[in-house]
Amino acid sequence: MEHLSIIEIKDLSFSYTGSARKSLNRVNINVRKGEFVVVTGPSGCGKTTLCRCLNGLVPNFYAGDLEGEALVCGLDIRKQSTGALSQHVGFVFQNPENQLFSLTVERDVAFGPENLGLSRKEIRRRVEWALKVTGIEALRDRAPYELSGGQQQRAAIASVLAMQPEIIVLDEPTSFLDPKSSKEILQVISNLNKELGITVFLVEHRLDLATRHSNRIIILDKGAVALDGPPEDVYNEEAHLIGIGLPKVTLLFHLLRHDGIETEKIPVTVEQGAEELRRILRK
Ligand SMILES: Nc1ncnc2c1ncn2[C@@H]1O[C@H](COP(=O)(O)OP(=O)(O)O)[C@@H](O)[C@H]1O
Ligand SMILES: [Mg+2]
Repeated sequence: MEHLSIIEIKDLSFSYTGSARKSLNRVNINVRKGEFVVVTGPSGCGKTTLCRCLNGLVPNFYAGDLEGEALVCGLDIRKQSTGALSQHVGFVFQNPENQLFSLTVERDVAFGPENLGLSRKEIRRRVEWALKVTGIEALRDRAPYELSGGQQQRAAIASVLAMQPEIIVLDEPTSFLDPKSSKEILQVISNLNKELGITVFLVEHRLDLATRHSNRIIILDKGAVALDGPPEDVYNEEAHLIGIGLPKVTLLFHLLRHDGIETEKIPVTVEQGAEELRRILRK
């Protein structure tokens, strides 16, 4: 049966074994196939825990008390092994070093498909494709540990893509990268979404870079969804955005608003900010 939502999270609460606090508290999120969702929020608000639910690490690997429901590609995370889920959900970690362990990039990318028991021809095809769409064909024989952070993160994404997932979940993939590499990685992710239709669930605090690729931002606070909507709406809710790394241009227009300079819509990209300034200056 075709599911309207590729991710269906209903009243999901979770506390890790031994912890009195709920790391997730009645979370409700539906994601449609092909969406690009950015999730952000202060440190400790539950972003990583939410990602772990999507690939079944919670509750299969991290034990605890899980209430509510989470269906990913129609599969109940409680009833599926992480292995079964990994064919649908690719997971990219904050630190690519945790994801790369082979002697060459090519071996790392081939690892997933080899474990699926696919034919050699199909493995080849997937490896070539994954190296190509992440732009690292030239790095195939290099050792992952001698690559730059940005190259490593591309290799990590390629190794996940070789599994041909429907969803790719990325937990702060730019944390260890400089601004230029961060921008490039987000562009790679955006292309996967736009050109291949892969659903993207991206946890990111660099909203200045991420916002232009997404039309949906979810703000988590203390394990609960505080805001969920288009950036233009979410970034308007100043009172709920304390501690969030908003785009500088949005902050600028929040300040101007305090001076009585109103905009119809709060700018979320520098281009929109420039447009808004031209309009104000023309008046
Ligand atoms: N493995 C774990 N065991 C116990 N508590 C954890 C574990 N991982 C995270 N937590 C707790 O869950 C809460 C949410 O953490 P996390 O999901 O890592 O937040 P974020 O990724 O937004 O920083 C925090 O209070 C954190 O201390
Ligand atoms: Mg985290």
